[in-house]
Order: sequence, then C-alpha cells, then structure tokens
Amino acid sequence: MTHSSTPTTNEPDQPGRIRGIAGAVITVQGLIGARLYDVVHVGHERLIGEVIRLTGTRATVQVYEDTTGLRADDPVEASGAALQVELGPGLLGGVFDGVQRPLPAIRRAHGDFIARGARVAQLDRQRVWPFRPLVQPGDRVQPGDVLGEVAEVPHLMHRILVPLHLSGTIETISAGEFRLTDTIATLRVAPDGDGETAARIVPLTLMQRWPVRQPRPYLRKLDMDEPLITGQRVIDTLFPIAKGGSAIIPGGFGTGKTVTQQSLAKWSDADVIVYVGCGERGNEMTEVLQSFPQLEDPRHDGPLMNRTILIANTSNMPVAAREASIYTGITIAEYYRDMGYDVALMADSTSRWGEALREVSGRLEEIPGEEGFPAYLPARLAEFYERSGHVCCLGGDRGTAEPRRGSVTLIGAVSPPGGDFSEPITQHSLRTTGAFWALDTDLARRRHFPAIHWRNSYTLYDLTRWFRGQVHDDWELNRREASGLLQREGELLETVQLVGADALAETEQVILQVGRMLREDFLQQSAFGADAYCPPVKQFWMLKTILHHFYLLDSAVRRGVHLDRALDPALLADIARMREWPTERAEEEAYALMERADAAFLALRSND
Ligand SMILES: Nc1ncnc2c1ncn2[C@@H]1O[C@H](COP(=O)(O)OP(=O)(O)O)[C@@H](O)[C@H]1O
Ligand SMILES: [Mg+2]
Repeated sequence: MTHSSTPTTNEPDQPGRIRGIAGAVITVQGLIGARLYDVVHVGHERLIGEVIRLTGTRATVQVYEDTTGLRADDPVEASGAALQVELGPGLLGGVFDGVQRPLPAIRRAHGDFIARGARVAQLDRQRVWPFRPLVQPGDRVQPGDVLGEVAEVPHLMHRILVPLHLSGTIETISAGEFRLTDTIATLRVAPDGDGETAARIVPLTLMQRWPVRQPRPYLRKLDMDEPLITGQRVIDTLFPIAKGGSAIIPGGFGTGKTVTQQSLAKWSDADVIVYVGCGERGNEMTEVLQSFPQLEDPRHDGPLMNRTILIANTSNMPVAAREASIYTGITIAEYYRDMGYDVALMADSTSRWGEALREVSGRLEEIPGEEGFPAYLPARLAEFYERSGHVCCLGGDRGTAEPRRGSVTLIGAVSPPGGDFSEPITQHSLRTTGAFWALDTDLARRRHFPAIHWRNSYTLYDLTRWFRGQVHDDWELNRREASGLLQREGELLETVQLVGADALAETEQVILQVGRMLREDFLQQSAFGADAYCPPVKQFWMLKTILHHFYLLDSAVRRGVHLDRALDPALLADIARMREWPTERAEEEAYALMERADAAFLALRSND
C-alpha cells in the first residue's frame, strides 16, 4: 500500500484521493464529510463504493465494481448518502445487479457486460403508472399509511405509502397517470419545533428511497401461525416453515441447494418472491434469468416473473457487491411486506457473502476469528435473519378495518466446504433461523431428491393448528407417525448392517418395508415434471394411504401372516404412483386405494 506523503487539503470541494488499492478495498485520504457506510464515487469512472471504515482523515472503501485500472491519486467523491434502493412500481419482474442497476437496461446501454460505473437509473423513469388515491385533502396521515395504489401487475396492487419519516395533512392529491418522480400528492408537515417555525409542504411521489443496511420499521411483530406452503412434501409435511420465518439449506456441492431454492421460488405461496443469486457461478444465474421468464405463475394468470424480483450477483462480479445484493434484496422484500404482502426471499448462497466478508476483512487486516472469518460474522448473519418476520405494518392499524399485516420469509442456502456442517456459517446461521433443511451428500449420490435428510433436519415452527384447520384434523397425527416410522427404520437399518436382516422380527420387517415406501413414494419428489408441486391436501392423502398400509401390514404379520404373502405387488405399484394423482381427486383416490387394500387384507385373513 502507498502512503500519503503530502498533507491533505481540507477544502470541502476537493475530492479525496486514492492512497492504496487492495482488490475491492481502497484507502482514501481527505474524503471530507463522508460518514460510515456512505456511498462514494471512485476514480474517473465514478465506480460505486461504500465507506466501511473511518480513521481520522483516512477512509476505507469497498468498491462494488471491478477496480482494475484505478490508480493512486485518483479522485474519490462523497455522495452524502448511504447505499439506498429505489422503491416503487416497476420492481416486480425486474432483474437487477447487487446495487439495483437493471441488468437488461444496462445490457442495452453498454453491451453484454456490465460496464463499470454504468449510470443507469434504477427504476424506469419514463414508464407511466395509473395512480388511484385512497385518501383526500385534509386527511391526516402517518408514516406507512396508504396514500393510494397502482396496479403494478394484474394481481398485485402496489400500495403507495407515506414515507416512513413523514406525517402531516394531505394538501393535494390526484388520480392520474404519473411517472415515478412526478408529484402525486403534497403533504403539509407541521414545524418540528426544532428551529422550524412554519409548516413545510412536501411533495410525494410514487417512488421512495431507503438505505439498505437499515431494517424498515413496522408496528409490531405478530405470531407466526401460518405456513409458507412450498409444495415440497418433505418440507411442508415434516419440516414446515412459517410465513415470516427463516430457514437455511446447507449442503455440499451438487446436493441440490440451487434446485431447491428455485423450486421454492416457483411454488411457494408468497405474493412476492425476491431471488438473490449471490456469488454463485455465472451460468447458474444465467439459467435462472433464462428459465424464470418462461414460467407460468401457478396461482395467477400470467408469467411467474410478475411476482418475482431477481437480483443477480455472480462469482464473476466483484466480491464486495455480494454484500450489497443481500441488503438490496432484503430491503425490497421489506418494502412489499410493508404494503401488506407475504414476501419470500431466497439467497443462493449466503456462504459466498460470508466469504466476501472474510476477504474484505482480510484486506482491512482485521484480527480474524474462526476459520479466518471476521469476528462480526455471527452478528451480520443474525442481523440479516432478524429482518424476517410476520408483522403488523406501520400504518396498518389505521384507515382499513383489517390491520395490514405482512411477512418476510428468509431462506438462505449455505455451501459448507466439503459438506461439513460444523463450519462457522452453517453454525451461526442455524442459531438465528427456525428451520434447518439439511441436504445430504449420500442421498444426493443415490439420487434421492430432494436430498433433505429427514433425520438431520428440523423445524422450530409449530403450525399444527393451521394444518389441522385448513387441511385435515389428522395432519399432526400423520406427521408424527411418519417421523416415528422413519426414525425406527433408521435404527433398524443400523441393526441390519451389524447382524443382517434375518435377525429382525416380522413386525420390524414391516417397518423397513414402510420406511422405504415413505422415502421413495412420499419424500422423493422430482423438481422437474408434474410432481414438482404437491399441495398439502395431496400430501396428506398420500401419507394417509401409506400409513394405512402400515397398519394393515402390521396387523397381518401380528396375526401370523408372512410378510411376503401380505405384500401385494399391484397395491405397492399403485402406492408408487400416488404422486400422479390429480390434487382435486386425491381424497377419492386415497379412499379407493385404501379400500382395495382393506379387501385384499381381508382376503388374507380368510386364507390364514
Ligand atoms: N428436487 C430435485 N429433483 C430432481 N433433481 C434434483 C433435485 N435436487 C437436485 N437435483 C439434481 O442435483 C443436481 C445438482 O443440484 P444443484 O441444485 O445444482 O446443487 P448445488 O446448488 O447444491 O450445488 C441437479 O442438477 C439435479 O440433477
Ligand atoms: Mg448451486
């Protein structure tokens, strides 16, 4: 690193000067007026950076773009603001980089690669949106109150909220067609009594900004009593996640983190999906960018992208931008939550973010903690996952009869080196998250997908009441029976390994048989094809059918029938085909199959 030999000029209009460059981290001398986490413009190309340390007149900046070509003495200018996102209509369907620059627009303006320092407005300034006011002149409004709405996509009303730092009386407001930066309303804000004497008139627009590192406030947290339905049997039935909850998907290379995250993005019953591709190989993200726009939304007419926001930050983009992409994503998620929607954010992979923190920390020559990660790694992870939640929104108790509620569910993939879950990112993440979907290398190798291991995974969310009320009274009973059988099967398989299958009693052989059914006919679910999404009601009847078969087998062998005789190949084949049941006929099909099984077992009895 070079060191300044000339004294700095302390004139405010002078830019700072680069004194050292180490990868994405640069040191700057004489950056006047910058605060910690302010955005700065670096070099002649005005690359985007963020101040991450201040010591005296020296600032350390992480740059979100390729720093090749920067030189000592190049200018660095303070922007006077923290890293912010633009929030307003036009986010849905958007594809952005880590600092919310629209990728398609950048590509059009600068060719295929993102040019450095590319200045493209974050949200489309030209597009016109129809605004319908929901308050009138003279109304008093508070932070977060709904001013009006814009039909952003056919099935989702974008609620325009009073900015979270403002309250006052509506002076003017009008319906009409507006661009994002046009004035849609004016607000009379009372003097703050702190030097101000006269009321201010503040213009309001369809667009707002918010600093990404600051969680958006809400009125209060609510209980998490409703599941995020994912359509994945192993998740919804065995390890469900609540709307507003958080989960991690740790797994070694090739175990299915990306496929699982993408399934969740496609099928989860959230109103809005934010998908953050963080530091993974470029071609994985390219695949997302190409495949998502082709997909139909399973719940609404129109493309899946209508409810999706993609944030792409791949491994060929600068390391520091990974952190920005995580914060940009969560802030956008909170914004839709504040409108009263259920939002789910998938981040693939949080390990790449952690590794970026480690790299930047190394450049800062900080004292390393576990495995070289900075000592603040656990705090950063916790702060991120704590931004999940089911909340009563600011302004949510006013105006409308129903309090406005929203949720942010966070699901982070973790890529532990060698698939070893004892490493710091897995360990610190699992402390602040409620569900753990452990991908297993061995299952993936045997092509049991999703490779979420039923014995190593868990959930802390108790959603029994919802499932019993909305799906079936026996939901929890089913789930307990299935978990118990899988547990018993695991123990018995260990015994078999030691002493062989002959040592098992017939009733134990039944458990092995049913355990296999549970694994192969219920837990296995291909992400590709018609079985990719399985609604809870179908999950219930599939499981019920297997458990019914267990009771029949168990009682038959207890009566002295040989297991071989009790196993009917035709019935087993039909159980293996349950995944093909049309959802609306699941109950009917289940009863038909169970009745056929009853009859077959009754016949067995008379043959005894
Ligand atoms: N639910 C699933 N259904 C079918 N195949 C799967 C499933 N999950 C993973 N796979 C298979 O595993 C491969 C690797 O998955 P991927 O998500 O890319 O792993 P990771 O992101 O953990 O490295 C996929 O290409 C696919 O063949
Ligand atoms: Mg992957």
